[in-house]
Amino acid sequence: MAQHKVCLIRGDGIGPEITQAVLTVLEAAKVDIEWVDLEAGLACVERGLPIVPEESIQKLAELGVGLKAPLTTPIGKGSVSPNVTLRKRLDLYACVRPVRSLRGLPTLFPGTDLVIFRENTEDVYGQVEYMATPTVAYTLKIITEGGCERICRAAFEYARANGRRRVTAVHKANIMKIADGLFLRTFQRVAAEYPDIEANDRIVDAQCMHLVTRWTEYDVLVTENLYGDILSDLCAGMVGGLGVAPGANMGTKCALFEAVHGSAPDIAGQNRANPTALLLSATQMLAHLGEHRAKADIEGALEATLERGVKTTDLGGDATTSAFAEAIASELRA
Ligand code: NAI
Repeated sequence: MAQHKVCLIRGDGIGPEITQAVLTVLEAAKVDIEWVDLEAGLACVERGLPIVPEESIQKLAELGVGLKAPLTTPIGKGSVSPNVTLRKRLDLYACVRPVRSLRGLPTLFPGTDLVIFRENTEDVYGQVEYMATPTVAYTLKIITEGGCERICRAAFEYARANGRRRVTAVHKANIMKIADGLFLRTFQRVAAEYPDIEANDRIVDAQCMHLVTRWTEYDVLVTENLYGDILSDLCAGMVGGLGVAPGANMGTKCALFEAVHGSAPDIAGQNRANPTALLLSATQMLAHLGEHRAKADIEGALEATLERGVKTTDLGGDATTSAFAEAIASELRA
């Protein structure tokens, strides 16, 4: 029996191509995983099934871990996002995005190495909006103590388990004294339970400036939904863009690892997509499974491949998706 049993969603658009590339690399790294293929996405809709069938949700809840390629949100009235469905049904409250500079991929921000914990369920994303008068619009920002507590705790637990030294809370409590004040107070209360981890906080605008002027000072950032949404794209840009930005959506019972980017229909089926973001999501998953050695081996092989100048077109190279994956796999076999 394989050491790990992991759900696999091959996705829409470029999903199947980058999934195959990732499987090629993981196989070369000799990671002992039994993959359980799950259905979700456009193919389900075309067969008259829900975009995320109930069996897939149940299996993810049962096995507790999955690797997911991007899913397309169908266009049209009443269409539901498969990604939002998964997040809600599995209560994946933490969006966790590691942001690290890669050797062989020069950027303006060398040495970046931080992890963003974004609260995934609250804030202005409840879509509670209305016109108070014909010319005045209200959007409700909803923050709960329980929501703040679990994301802050997740960040500190991660820091402790992964040898990170500091957690920074990002907020705007100087203006939103009640909602962001609750977030900050809860952060400080949770921080007191982790005396081994340094805790500090930054106002979100100052944090943005610091990210591009003093980026090596930051380690783990924890923040509310909207600030996290914006900060994580800013950080993805700092280390090379969408093609190399991994992530995970995590809850208490399930962790689903996925690239930040979407299904890129404009390049689907052309063997051109960069599989790095999904590959780094898979290595993030390996760390979650305790396979730290395999994570380090794969990331080393990826960086060696980039240093040799083998890159996909989005990074200025000419390698196809499959050739890039094969080059990383060869590094691992060497
Ligand atoms: P997108 O991220 O799919 O594409 C944006 C641009 O980045 C495109 O030009 C695309 O070619 C390029 N790109 C993205 N990933 C790339 C990769 N790995 N290698 C090379 N180039 C890459 O965003 P878009 O076009 O807004 O969304 C397309 C579909 O994906 C939509 O249906 C959207 O709802 C869905 N989506 C799904 C997500 C998920 O499953 N987590 C996340 C974001 C969007």
